[in-house]
Amino acid sequence: MNNFQYYAPTQVLFGKDTEKEVGALVASFGCKKALVHYGGKSAAKSGLLDRVYRSLDESGVSYVSLGGVVPNPRLAKIHEGIALCRKENVDFILAIGGGSVIDSAKAIGYGVVNEGEVWDFYEQRRAPTDCLPIGCVLTIAAAGSEMSDSSVVTNDDGVKRGYSNNICRLKFAVMNPELTFTLPAYQVACGGVDIVMHTLERWLDPKRTDSELTDRIAVALIKTVIRNALILKDNPRDYNAASEIMWAGSLSHNGLTGCGGSGGDWSTHQIEHELSGMFDVAHGAGLSAVWGTWARYVYKALPSRFAKLGVDVFGIAESNEEDAARLAIDNMEAFFKSINMPISLHELGIDLTEEQVKELAFRGSFFGKRKLGTFYPLDISDLEAIYRAAK
Ligand code: NZQ
Ligand code: ZN
Repeated sequence: MNNFQYYAPTQVLFGKDTEKEVGALVASFGCKKALVHYGGKSAAKSGLLDRVYRSLDESGVSYVSLGGVVPNPRLAKIHEGIALCRKENVDFILAIGGGSVIDSAKAIGYGVVNEGEVWDFYEQRRAPTDCLPIGCVLTIAAAGSEMSDSSVVTNDDGVKRGYSNNICRLKFAVMNPELTFTLPAYQVACGGVDIVMHTLERWLDPKRTDSELTDRIAVALIKTVIRNALILKDNPRDYNAASEIMWAGSLSHNGLTGCGGSGGDWSTHQIEHELSGMFDVAHGAGLSAVWGTWARYVYKALPSRFAKLGVDVFGIAESNEEDAARLAIDNMEAFFKSINMPISLHELGIDLTEEQVKELAFRGSFFGKRKLGTFYPLDISDLEAIYRAAK
């Protein structure tokens, strides 16, 4: 097994009614004034926001609120949050929502305690030295931001960039699976794809050759998500299925399913980020729309790991490695289809012009400066070919 670091400092409070504890949790971090940060309508409509305010009041925590975070969170809202936190002397951020709200909270957390423009961190021009403490009440199982070191932000020009740093890891995550019952089926399915993808990106790693335990955890996680996503499709209020998916979402992106590897590939994520930056599509749907095309473009550079995915997850008995690899890709796409996720850009509602293909590839290659991925590094012409073929 290769050397690795595993750092998962987030306290998890999991189960029914756990959001009632949130005031006591925030108070336990010595918070004098919190920013309650949330998205569009869902948290207010479900009554969750009121329950959170009540819990904060009961624990004597003062707070100010900032809602309106959109999916694929925007820099303008982050600037608004930084200014508000500075004006109100906020010392803790409580995010109520999913990946978009939590990521917006992380960016605000960087911006409040570091001088200068927060976007610099996402452009990797310089690094933050600290971040405000953050906790969350999670309302959607998907991005895994509640336990990850990452945040992903979109600027005013539609450029979407991720930034990873351990200093933003949440102090706590309150996870009540019942809170996900109000999600539209489309968002549940998007979440299922994203959760699988976070483990799959780490799985497709040539250096992960002697990692039996990590591989078995990864296989269990992917199989659990596939099984329970199908249960939720038929019964969106199945508490146990929602619980399995919610817990999988956190474990899939807190590093656990990559221990002993070299970090994973992540090119599908970057290919998708360009799509959601330009077209504002849901992240999970963007991933499922391009993954199969990407996989067929690169699998011959790492047939062993694709084949092992097929054998371990889908029970493929094929002895020829390349055939097993191809079947694994077919099976993964069949899963995406089975939960009504797109497996092409057209199904995602996008028919790219040649100009858009070139622009996406240019942005995806960090303006021609970088290659994406590890075992098959993709340059700008590879990216153009993948966007064209994903039609
Ligand atoms: O804004 P509201 O009204 O709350 O609606 C949201 C939003 O429209 C809705 N929603 C959330 N919880 C709900 C609900 N609707 C009804 N009932 C509930 N309980 O769902 C929609 C999507 O929410 P969002 O937070 O955008 O979803 P998700 O968690 O998938 O986050 C996506 C963002 O996370 C980034 C993605 O790129 C994207 O920007 N990612 C963040 C990562 C990280 N920080 O580690 C890793 C991921 O790979 C990903 O890139
Ligand atoms: Zn993702």
